[in-house]
Amino acid sequence: MKNYIPSLRIFLLAILALGVNYASAQTKNDAAKMNAFVTQLMSKMTLEEKIGQLNLVTMGRAITGSVVNSGVESRIKKGEIGGVFGVYGAADVAKIQDLAVKESRLHIPLIFGLDVIHGHRTIFPIPLGISATWDMGLIEQSAHIAAKEATAEGLNWVFSPMVDIARDPRWGRISEGSGEDPWYGSQVAKAMVKGYQGSSMTNSDAVMACVKHFALYGGAEAGREYNTVDMSLIRMYQDYLPPYKAALDAGAGSFMSSFNTVNGMPATVNKWLLTDLLRKQWGFKGFVVSDYTALNEVTDHGLGDLQTVSALALKAGLDMDMVGEGFLTTLKKSLKEGKVTQQEIDQACRRVLEAKYKLGLFNNPNKSIDPEREQRDVLTDDHRKFARTIAEHSFVLLKNSAQTLPLKKSGTIALVGPLANNHSEMLGTWVIAGDPEKSVSVMDGIKNIVGNNVNILYARGSNITDDSLLGVRAFALNNGQIKDKRSPKEMIDEAVETAKKADVVVAVVGESANMSGESSSRSDIRIPESQRDLLKALAKTGKPLVIVLFNGRPLTLTWEDEHASAILDAWAPGTEAGNAIADVLFGNYNPAGKITATFPRSVGQIPIYYNHKNTGRPYSGKGPAKFKSDYLDISNDPLYPFGYGLSYTTFNYSDVKLDKTTLKGNEILKATVTVTNTGKYSGEEVVQMYISDPVASISRSVKELKNYQKVTLQPGETKEVTFNITTNDLKFYNNELVYDWEPGQFIVQIGTNSSDTHTASVQWGK
Ligand code: NOJ
Repeated sequence: MKNYIPSLRIFLLAILALGVNYASAQTKNDAAKMNAFVTQLMSKMTLEEKIGQLNLVTMGRAITGSVVNSGVESRIKKGEIGGVFGVYGAADVAKIQDLAVKESRLHIPLIFGLDVIHGHRTIFPIPLGISATWDMGLIEQSAHIAAKEATAEGLNWVFSPMVDIARDPRWGRISEGSGEDPWYGSQVAKAMVKGYQGSSMTNSDAVMACVKHFALYGGAEAGREYNTVDMSLIRMYQDYLPPYKAALDAGAGSFMSSFNTVNGMPATVNKWLLTDLLRKQWGFKGFVVSDYTALNEVTDHGLGDLQTVSALALKAGLDMDMVGEGFLTTLKKSLKEGKVTQQEIDQACRRVLEAKYKLGLFNNPNKSIDPEREQRDVLTDDHRKFARTIAEHSFVLLKNSAQTLPLKKSGTIALVGPLANNHSEMLGTWVIAGDPEKSVSVMDGIKNIVGNNVNILYARGSNITDDSLLGVRAFALNNGQIKDKRSPKEMIDEAVETAKKADVVVAVVGESANMSGESSSRSDIRIPESQRDLLKALAKTGKPLVIVLFNGRPLTLTWEDEHASAILDAWAPGTEAGNAIADVLFGNYNPAGKITATFPRSVGQIPIYYNHKNTGRPYSGKGPAKFKSDYLDISNDPLYPFGYGLSYTTFNYSDVKLDKTTLKGNEILKATVTVTNTGKYSGEEVVQMYISDPVASISRSVKELKNYQKVTLQPGETKEVTFNITTNDLKFYNNELVYDWEPGQFIVQIGTNSSDTHTASVQWGK
């Protein structure tokens, strides 16, 4: 078989020579070739071999359930396994691939997957942090580097991007996504898929993306992991589905079904989701894998025994079963009993084989396995440099009173907190191949940057948590938390004494890596109590208190916002954490990140998100009001709204200027603001553009993000920022689920975050 896609150079030359029609003819040609190849291969396959292709097993690294597969090697030789995950490293992967291509009857290569979520060996910030960069170039590059490192270790498939919209920070997996906004989440989804898959999945440094979790996993009731999702179709289409669709349109090769039910039907066996929506409405041509034993769990959802639910899943459009062996052990029987058809098995098998074909594995099953590359392309200086840059760009300055930050590169600093001299927690959730020994602690980073000029005093101050329930559950996979032998009081006393000797206190506090991510929901999303006690004691010293926050989710920070001088949200910043944090603390880089998920004042406000509806009795926000949509005991406003983030400099926005105030049909509206850097530092600003549709055939969100631009301004510099608005930006799903716009008034809002905007109104007719 010849290469399925010609090299990029030839492809570009061909396009230049023959025009774009060539491209579509070529694509059809490629599809026909793939079809012929797979048809021919399948004609030789037994039923058992076909079912084998639908079976994905784990080799045991990074297990996220109670079942691990056994007898993997002999099953591969028998053709009973289509893909493997939980193994990496060129030699290990090559050995297993050899079993398939040398020792199985038809020599069909395996696909090798892994949870490469925010970097592989070089760890970048958690996805929620990466999303705060508002920089699609950086985001795409992070996925590309992850793919390069993963392929260097033999992998060709990553279980990423996770594009689940999340509006509930109690849910631990909010850390793995891009926050609450469908439009923004779609941009990130596209960038990630492009970064992973590159110009062609046959490239030796490209992997196939697996978009997850289809669908609506982030809508889990009460933010409790794996919980029920029940949602109106309008909300689904308008607010939760767009990022999955964007990832598909960017060419994602595979999808993972989610654990949850969707309106009563588990996603894994949900025909409406996996076939009607994904394939028929959206035109998806790749394959769908279940989540970890999710097929078996359909029994717990109450839909029947393993044979029943496996048949349901296949019929619904699930192609590959992760870990559970439901397909492997029941489909043959179901076929005999007429519960599934040969055509359904063939279809799933074909989709899995096509994925392998698209990856070029039939050409070269070991296409990326090269021991030299494994040495050369992993954790390189360039990758580390990039990790530092993207981490700096992900940080969000939540508070900075009296210009406490940046710090002077002189004097004495008290560095305190259980995360200050720690090498593992900054890596965050989902770090399978990341090595804590290679990561830079905050202490090391500060020493690297100012060690010769600043006197650094250190005190740990507290354990990460002294709460027995939280401690035991969060650290369950780490065999417990390593605690200091001293009492909380002794640790706090030492920290206070240290603080008294310093000019400023830098407290590195927050969540450990395992407090967010899968199976890490929290009902209290404050900084753990042991650390809050430390902060309270430090605040009493009267020294300027800078909080560097590690967190996998929006936290409730009302006390901290009131009492700290500055708060720098660093998320879980990855391998280069300490260097990046020190760069920002000392002003080598001026932070510009903006949060992509609302920070509530209290868990009682959750779910809280900027693009909510108005209600019929909106509360004006002023004074006590009876019979309005508010709370008796707290304001409706979040602590920090979506899109919020400060800078060491300040930006001034002009009013919004529109080039027209009445438009018709497909005209384009230009909306302009001038932004001026009114402070002392050069800085970047994410200028955000929202649109409101105050009168429509259904109740619309109060505003929706439609675009943004990131600009860099020197002190005193002014730039005009113009957005071209088209009718595409006005569209929404109406009550009949038709995606269109309706004529009338629209309000354009441009500003520094979702709450602080300048507005201008326009009439737009059909
Ligand atoms: C379960 C998680 O939900 C999913 O995101 C992950 O890819 C699989 N386990 C495999 O580790």
